[in-house]
Amino acid sequence: MAYYRSLGAVPPLRHTVFRSDTGALYYEELMGEEGFSSDSSLLYHRYIPSALVAARRWELPDQTLTPNDPLLPRHLKLHGLADASTIAKTDGVTGRRLVLGNDDVRISYVVAGATSPLYRNAVGDECVYVEAGEAVVETVFGALPTGQGDYVVIPRGTTHRWVVEQDRPVSLYAIEASSHIVPPRRYLSQYGQFLEHAPYCERDLRGPSETLQIDEADVDVYIKHRGASGLTGTIHTLPRHPFDVVGWDGCLYPYTFNVANFMPITGKVHQPPPVHQTFEGTNFVVCNFLPRKVDYHELAVPVPYYHSNVDSDEVMFYVGGEYEARKGSGIGLGSISFHPGGHSHGPQPGAIEASLGKDYFDETGIMIDTFRPLQLGEAGLAAEDKTYASSWSGGRWLS
Ligand SMILES: [Fe+2]
Repeated sequence: MAYYRSLGAVPPLRHTVFRSDTGALYYEELMGEEGFSSDSSLLYHRYIPSALVAARRWELPDQTLTPNDPLLPRHLKLHGLADASTIAKTDGVTGRRLVLGNDDVRISYVVAGATSPLYRNAVGDECVYVEAGEAVVETVFGALPTGQGDYVVIPRGTTHRWVVEQDRPVSLYAIEASSHIVPPRRYLSQYGQFLEHAPYCERDLRGPSETLQIDEADVDVYIKHRGASGLTGTIHTLPRHPFDVVGWDGCLYPYTFNVANFMPITGKVHQPPPVHQTFEGTNFVVCNFLPRKVDYHELAVPVPYYHSNVDSDEVMFYVGGEYEARKGSGIGLGSISFHPGGHSHGPQPGAIEASLGKDYFDETGIMIDTFRPLQLGEAGLAAEDKTYASSWSGGRWLS
């Protein structure tokens, strides 16, 4: 995220002596991507950030992936996953349930009523979409208040936690990459500024609003990382609370972007999904379909044409309004449609006719396209409505 911010106290010259009012030395830490060759920030700690007094195993939630075999378009109903009796004890990190995934990205879902432990993802960046509710994401860079419709982008290696108020659960759709998650390159100038044609810009991104300093001893941090058998968890115990940063500056930090600030690009006839793109990671993209005026040619067909995305699997999470192209399929709020490469998909029967003449769609969907096949996590299997594959053939299915 090549956009400079500064928060709290930093010395006038980098890599020079910096002391508190009482004369104590602050410890400078560079947090940088691609070694020392890409975006970075400098953080100033009250305590040594490397200090560690214990390490033990963190047993991650079930990470099993099941191939989409036989190849089918699938409908997953995420709102059926949460167990009301356990929400108050479920947090936004350890409570995540894996819906879909591959080696590039894992998509999980959780309704969290409890504050998470301190957490650091060493595998890749996270982009967590807040489907409903509010939370404060406390990070080493400071606090990020978040609410419905926010994407929360958290760089790899950022120590943070999801703080939830009692009896006010938050619903999170977590996109965990094995890479960085960034705005599309084509939205940016050669120096990294958002261009005029981009559907959002720096002004729409919110960074941490205040630094956090907590004095506590022997604090656990849950770390997700690569291990001998794939995704692995370790809990480090730090002698001091990691929220001890008095200031930082640079171009690498967590931020939020609310989907309502994305300005949809519309056209005389149907515009393809890349105009709705928000972020990208290695081998996947994130797009959002928002309430918008639709195509204004007198003969326009506002819903999408049938499409065979031969190089991608498509995952749409329906979070607002009513999605025009899926009417009649059983898909509603909280649903995911999973349309894999190798199968052509498009509007449900009758949806084209129903859309003709419409000039506005009230729909909000968060879409992830992956360029390698996705597999089903345990939550994806648990949430499936198995009638979906026959929804284009009037329910007819030969078994
Ligand atoms: Fe599609």
